[in-house]
Amino acid sequence: MPPPIVIAIDGTSASGKSTNAKLVANALSFVYVDTGSMYRTLAWYCLKQRLDIHDAKAVARACRTWKTTLVCVKAHVRLLVEGYYPEREIRTAETSAAVPHVAAVPKVREWMKKRQRECVRFGSLVMEGRDIGTNVFPETEFKFYLDASLEERSKRRAAEGIQENLAARDQRDSQRAVAPLMIPLGATVVNSSGRTSAETSGEIIAAIRRRLKP
Ligand code: DC
Repeated sequence: MPPPIVIAIDGTSASGKSTNAKLVANALSFVYVDTGSMYRTLAWYCLKQRLDIHDAKAVARACRTWKTTLVCVKAHVRLLVEGYYPEREIRTAETSAAVPHVAAVPKVREWMKKRQRECVRFGSLVMEGRDIGTNVFPETEFKFYLDASLEERSKRRAAEGIQENLAARDQRDSQRAVAPLMIPLGATVVNSSGRTSAETSGEIIAAIRRRLKP
């Protein structure tokens, strides 16, 4: 069996990472991993345990002791907590507001990186996040960085019914001390402004297929 391939898709919030990463995974029959949902799951768990999410030590302790399993369901990886997948809970405004604090804790990032690297046991991956090409799988030769204009990204969030200060979120993601959001070395930068997801994902799929050709 050839070794699994990892496609890293990083980028700013609302740049179309999830939609495009799913389309790419589907086209190549690879497994899809949404790493943001893993950070969201920890944020939800901390809130449920009534932990102070500003207390980095308490958050790190929770991450050391929670009972989790990684499973692959219909080619999507899920992080379960005590066998439960909090699919809806991780998308609430409360969880969204808590997650950047949890994601800034160095011990949390270490834990997440280990779990994310373990996902190759499910096969070849399309993994989306903020630090996949720079930190989680820096060795992969398939790195993409997605972006779109602030105006278009804000419109996309508004269309989803979410009012969010994306400029502030970008700043927090890019300026955090550990594994900040940045364009990975050697990444192909793809701008999704004014393009359909079929066009954007098509560009990524074509680039991967060109490189996969013997
Ligand atoms: O992509 P998302 O909105 O679901 O991400 C949720 C949060 O997790 C966001 O604040 C960025 C953070 N995140 C991260 O720091 N590193 C990742 N690899 C993925 C997400």
